[in-house]
Amino acid sequence: MRQDHLISAANLSRESIEAVLDRAAAIDADPAAYRQRHAGAVLALCFFEPSTRTKMSFDTAMKRLGGTTVDMGTVESSSVKKGETLADTVRVVEGYADAIVLRHPSEGAAKMASEFVDVPLVNAGDGAGQHPSQTLLDLYTIRERAGLDDLSVGIMGDLKYGRTVHSLAHALTNFDVRQHFISPESLRLPRNVRFDLHEAGAHVREHTDLEAVLPELDVLYVTRIQRERFPDENEYRAVAGQYRIDEETLEAARDDLSVMHPLPRVDEIAPEVDETEYATYFEQAHNGIPVRMALLDGLLTRAKEGGR
Ligand code: NCD
Repeated sequence: MRQDHLISAANLSRESIEAVLDRAAAIDADPAAYRQRHAGAVLALCFFEPSTRTKMSFDTAMKRLGGTTVDMGTVESSSVKKGETLADTVRVVEGYADAIVLRHPSEGAAKMASEFVDVPLVNAGDGAGQHPSQTLLDLYTIRERAGLDDLSVGIMGDLKYGRTVHSLAHALTNFDVRQHFISPESLRLPRNVRFDLHEAGAHVREHTDLEAVLPELDVLYVTRIQRERFPDENEYRAVAGQYRIDEETLEAARDDLSVMHPLPRVDEIAPEVDETEYATYFEQAHNGIPVRMALLDGLLTRAKEGGR
């Protein structure tokens, strides 16, 4: 198996993370220098679940590197509708492209698909599993704002089904970060992620209330309750709307707190927060371009050097 797929943040080292973030910073400083870097290369976008940011930013990132993209389109319009397996789809698609970005509703789908292809495959979300490229842009944003050491990071909302949370929690174990998880009891971090954090020796605290921990946070990473993952709509209703941030909530926060969110938000952050210095989520979304350019540049360059 090739080593170059990006499937989970659990196997990202500090060095590999910093390499991508440094390259993203170089791209941010001089985007024109990268304009023709991967001319002629093709990126396949295979999204079996809705996406705005992730898909459009990978698309834009590839084009800004001089490459092009091919898009599977929606599941409704693809051969998946005729019963094609994921393994067959990616085996066909690798013949069209130099790299594949895959989003799929099933946890483990990206790992499974990666075993069938020789081009680099990026997991752009596998059910409630992982979303490692989001994590890279989250880390880039945190680093730009506050650096990545001696930090208190609060992660709040749907910690059970939120794949961006799982990836971020894993990646933060590489840094000197105190992780505070804030959620209702029923949406706690899954046992396997808690186990991994414990094994990594991470500083972890769990809370059901934001109030007590808010004053010490450098970053508050808010997430959407992942309605589509709940087996029972009543369970969703029982927790929906419980963790909402507005200007009043933030009165107890430090002045330099960064409020982040992978977006889309539903009602977790009141729009009035957008106008405050705390709001970092739009900047975070914009960082998807340099970070995904850096990620693709690394993957495509190594694939080329590997004789492909
Ligand atoms: C997230 C996702 O798809 O997991 N969105 C994203 O990629 N920015 C978060 C979410 O859907 O809540």
